[in-house]
Amino acid sequence: MPSTRSIEVLATAADLFHSAAEEFIRAARAAIGAQGRFTVALSGGSTPKALYSLLAANYSDFAWNRVFLFFGDERHVPPTDPESNYRMVSESLLSKIKIPPENVFRVPADNSDAAAVASDYDAQLRRFFQLDPAEFPRFDLILLGLGPDGHTASLFPDSPALDEQSRLVVANWVAKFNAYRITFTFPVLNRAAEVMFMASGADKANMLHQVLEGKSTPPLPSQRVEPSDGTLLWMLDQAAAAKLTR
Ligand code: 6PG
Repeated sequence: MPSTRSIEVLATAADLFHSAAEEFIRAARAAIGAQGRFTVALSGGSTPKALYSLLAANYSDFAWNRVFLFFGDERHVPPTDPESNYRMVSESLLSKIKIPPENVFRVPADNSDAAAVASDYDAQLRRFFQLDPAEFPRFDLILLGLGPDGHTASLFPDSPALDEQSRLVVANWVAKFNAYRITFTFPVLNRAAEVMFMASGADKANMLHQVLEGKSTPPLPSQRVEPSDGTLLWMLDQAAAAKLTR
C-alpha cells in the first residue's frame, strides 16, 4: 500500500487546476530546497493542458532552471503531430517559460522504430538519474491521468506493458489504436515520491468510482499505481467525483 493516499475534491475544474498548480509548485519548492532540483514526469492527453497553462501564466518567474521535465508517456508520432504530448506541453507551457532546453527530456518518438524510441528514453532516464542496472528512478512528482478504460500513462488494460518489471520505458502495442505508445512502467510510477492523478468532468465519474471504490479482477491499470514509499494524490473536481460514496 502507498505510504499515504488522499483524495481532494474541488468544486470546479478551475479550482482543480489552481489547486494542482499550487501542489506542483509546493512539491517543486520542497525538492529544490532539499536537493537543488525538481524532477517531474508530465502526463498527456487533454486534462493537464489547463494545469500547464496555469503554471505558465502564474509561475513564469519560477526557478524553472532547477526543474527537469520528463514525459510519463508519449504517442508514437513526431513532436509536430497534433497527437503529440510534447507538442501539447510545448504549446501550453514550454513556449511560455524560461526553462533551459537541456532540462526538457522529450521522448524521441519521431523514430519510426518504437522499440528503439523506448530503449533510447530508458537510457536517458538511467543516465540522468545515474542508476545502477537494477535501480529505478525516484521522480519527485509524476502526473497521471485516468482514461475511460482505467488506463493511465499508456498502460492500457490487457496490454503487454502491464507485466514489465525491469525496464523503465517500453513501447506498448495498444490494439484499440492499432499503434504503439511509449510509456513508463509500473516500477517507475511506484517508485515516485509523489504521484498526482488529475481527473475532471462527469465523463470520468463512473470509472473513478470503479477505480477508487471498486474491485476489478485483474485490477485496472490505474489501481496498480501505489507508490511503495511515496504519496498518492487524486485531484478531482466535483463532476468527476460525483459517483464516489466516501
Ligand atoms: C495520454 C495520457 C493518458 C491520459 C488519459 C486521460 O497520453 O493520453 O497519458 O494516460 O492521461 O487517457 O486523458 P484525458 O485527460 O484526455 O481524459
